[in-house]
Amino acid sequence: MERPAPVASHASTAAGDEGNVPSESPSASRAQADGPVTAAGPADGIQGNEDDIQAEDVSSSDADSSYDDAALSFTQSLTSSVTKYKYENGRRYHAYEDGKYFLPNDEEENDRLDLFHHLLTLRCNDKLHLAPIGSNPQRILDLGTGTGIWAIEMGDAYPSAEIIGNDFSPIQPSSVPPNVQFEVDDIENTWLFSSPFDYIHCRYLAGSLANWPKLMSQAFAHTKPGGWVEFHDFDMKFYSTDKSFVPGSAPDIWTSEIANGVRAIGREPEPGPKLKGWVEDAGFINVFHQVLPIPVGPWPKDKRLKEVGACDLSMFLQGLEGISLRVLTMAKNWSAEEVLAFLPQVRKDLRNRRIHALHDLHIVYAQKPY
Ligand SMILES: C[S@@+](CC[C@H](N)C(=O)[O-])C[C@H]1O[C@@H](n2cnc3c(N)ncnc32)[C@H](O)[C@@H]1O
Repeated sequence: MERPAPVASHASTAAGDEGNVPSESPSASRAQADGPVTAAGPADGIQGNEDDIQAEDVSSSDADSSYDDAALSFTQSLTSSVTKYKYENGRRYHAYEDGKYFLPNDEEENDRLDLFHHLLTLRCNDKLHLAPIGSNPQRILDLGTGTGIWAIEMGDAYPSAEIIGNDFSPIQPSSVPPNVQFEVDDIENTWLFSSPFDYIHCRYLAGSLANWPKLMSQAFAHTKPGGWVEFHDFDMKFYSTDKSFVPGSAPDIWTSEIANGVRAIGREPEPGPKLKGWVEDAGFINVFHQVLPIPVGPWPKDKRLKEVGACDLSMFLQGLEGISLRVLTMAKNWSAEEVLAFLPQVRKDLRNRRIHALHDLHIVYAQKPY
C-alpha cells in the first residue's frame, strides 16, 4: 500500500522583492576548510580554527458530500494522528513514526532548538547559509526543520522563494511568512516532491537518521542541475586545546554513552565528519567543507565566541535531560533515576569556567552538476 502524502501543517504562498545576498568571497580562515570551491569559500571572517579561539583569563476528520470536504477530513484525521504525542518520564515525544526519534518535542526542547538556531547563526557570522544560492532562489527545502525557525527566517530573507520545511512533528508556528509552508513527513521515506529544489538545507540531524547515503541520493535527485545542498552537523566529542578538558570526565562519559546508545538504536550519532564523503558519493561537485569549533561556555575572549559559548552551555544545561532520557533508558538499560542522578556531574563540569571545552560542527555544501 502506498503511504499517504505528507500532511501540510501550515501553508501559504507569495512572491516579492530581493532577499539578502550571501557573501561569496573566499577567505581561507580555516585549516580544515578543504574546498575546492568554485563559487564560494569559507564565509568572511568566520573564525575557523580551534587554536584561534582564545580563552579569557579567569581568576574568578466525515466525508460524504464533496471532494473538498473529504480532503479536509482526511487531512484533519492525519493531523490528529500526528499530534497524539507520547509521554515518557515527564517528556513529550513525536507520534508520527512513533519511536524513530529519541529527542522530545515539548516546549522545553523547542526552546532549546531556537537557542541552537541563534548560536549557530551567530557562529556563522549572522549568515543563514554559506552556499552561494544567489539572490533569487525559487524553491528551498529544509529537511527535519524542527521549530521551523530557519525556514521562517529564510522566507523573510528570500521573498522570491517557496520554502518547505518538513518534520515528524508539527511543532512549527502557524503564523509564518506567506512563502513558507510546513509538512509532516519522514525524510527517510521516498520523497514525493513533484518539482526539484534550488537549495536543500539540512541541519542538526545527529542521532536522527539510519541511512544517510539514501538521504544524500534523494537530495541529489531532488536538486535542480546547478542547485546546492548544505548540511550542518556535529561530531559529539568534547575536547580542549589546553588540556583543561579531561578524558574520562563526566561529560566525556556522557557523550560516549549517548553516542553508543544512538548507534545501538541504528542511528548515526556523529554525521558531521562523514558529510563530505557522503555528498561526494551521491554525485555532488564543488564540495566545500569547514569545521567550526563551538565553545561550551562563555570562556573565549572574543565577544562573539563568548556569546556562542554561553548559548551552547545553556543549550546543553537545558537539553541534557531530553537528550539523555530516551536513549539511555531504551538502548543502554539505565533507569530514568540513574540518568537523572548522573546528569548533575555532567552539568558541574560543563559549568566549570576553567574547563575550555569545544565540540565540532561540520559544514558541507555542494552543487549538483549541470
Ligand atoms: C535536533 S532537531 C534539529 C531541528 C532543525 N533542523 C534545526 O536545526 O533547528 C532534529 C529534528 O529532526 C526531526 N527528525 C528526525 N528524524 C526525522 C525524520 N526521519 N523525518 C523527519 N523529521 C525528522 C526531529 O523531529 C527534529 O525536529
